[in-house]
Amino acid sequence: MTDFIAQARAILKTNDRGGYTVPTDRLYPFQWNWDSAFVAMGFAAYDVPRAYRELERLAEGQWADGMIPHIVFHAPSDSYFPGPDVWRTSHTIATSGITQPPVFGMALKRVHDAAVDSGLVNATERSAPLFEAALCWHRWWYAARDPEQTGLVALLHPWESGSDNSPAWDIALARVPTTTETAVVRKDTGHVDQAMRPRDEDYRRFIHLVDTYAACGWDPERQWKAAPFKIAEVQTTAILLRSGEELERLAVMLGRTEEAAELRQMNTLSRKALLAQWRPHLRRFVSRDLISEEDVEAPTQAGFIPLLALDLEPAILDAACAEMESWASGLAVAFPSTPQAFAGFEAKRYWRGPVWGVINWLLIAGLRRNGRVDLAEGLRAATVQVVERQGFAEYFDPLTGEGCGGLDFSWTAAAYIEFTRKAA
Ligand code: SER
Repeated sequence: MTDFIAQARAILKTNDRGGYTVPTDRLYPFQWNWDSAFVAMGFAAYDVPRAYRELERLAEGQWADGMIPHIVFHAPSDSYFPGPDVWRTSHTIATSGITQPPVFGMALKRVHDAAVDSGLVNATERSAPLFEAALCWHRWWYAARDPEQTGLVALLHPWESGSDNSPAWDIALARVPTTTETAVVRKDTGHVDQAMRPRDEDYRRFIHLVDTYAACGWDPERQWKAAPFKIAEVQTTAILLRSGEELERLAVMLGRTEEAAELRQMNTLSRKALLAQWRPHLRRFVSRDLISEEDVEAPTQAGFIPLLALDLEPAILDAACAEMESWASGLAVAFPSTPQAFAGFEAKRYWRGPVWGVINWLLIAGLRRNGRVDLAEGLRAATVQVVERQGFAEYFDPLTGEGCGGLDFSWTAAAYIEFTRKAA
């Protein structure tokens, strides 16, 4: 019998570059923010000190203003574009200039609990500086990305969502020019089939945004004013809120009463704002385009991620679950990043349809929180099965179940470890 857990752990070991884990060799040769947070939760199941190390190495990239960047370039590699020369940032270690979904707080609480459960002697000493880093990052989110204090945080670049070429960005990104100062020399399409990646035109717009913000000296206020792409986003806000809840609990455990109260305030604001993004006629939550001042109605997985951080009333929960079930119906594996019936659906192209283990992770946590253990268990079992059949691919084609993108992928390994834990 194949030992898939041993395989998952071996992938995390192979992708270790010295206390941090690359998502996969060559395609992503640095430390990525939310990838590492999921990986830390994977490590928490069997190697708590290594789990801490993953978060500590990520926090090395934290900027003076509190932002934790989406990539930390710990060591050089020529297999990725855009590298440090394109980002032109000025932190002590080379980093990108944008951020990524704040899973860090959720991960830290998980690692802290595992440390306490396993009797690790220095759990508090190890968690305290990471708590500080997480708190500073949450303050940054609210100051830099919600200056009007709406409770919803905004993204200034599609890469910040982690869902780079999601149909959610089609309308907003089309307004961003394709002109760039930086030569766009893609490396990703040398590693995986270009039909599985964003298009060249998307990349030109992605890099136009990088050029624009580099010209602002990466100053949050100047970027906010100059941004040609600005989405108050429900997936990111839901993750921020869930992490905020976990950090609030951790603050209490660490005896940080004032910080617990501060986090409670942030969480209350976001909870209210997120709930207001429910659209009964769509049976899901929607993001808001702050430039056109319109709802982002394209159907994507993001519409259901708020379950992660809200305790929904039965009418909303039933409608959201019915909608999720209709998207999943007839697929080889769920949950799709956009439904098959949508015109923009592409079964193998990155975030335009495929199934992602970590999205299932967030959805399962949201369904469980809201008492829908039946749906959660279906998604969990299907994810385990598709990995056992297809390997630890970056993501999966929802129509065939085929593994796509990069192989031996760290976050898929972490998701497998999570989904096969005894308590899971
Ligand atoms: N996901 C992006 C990439 O493919 C950047 O984070 O490079």
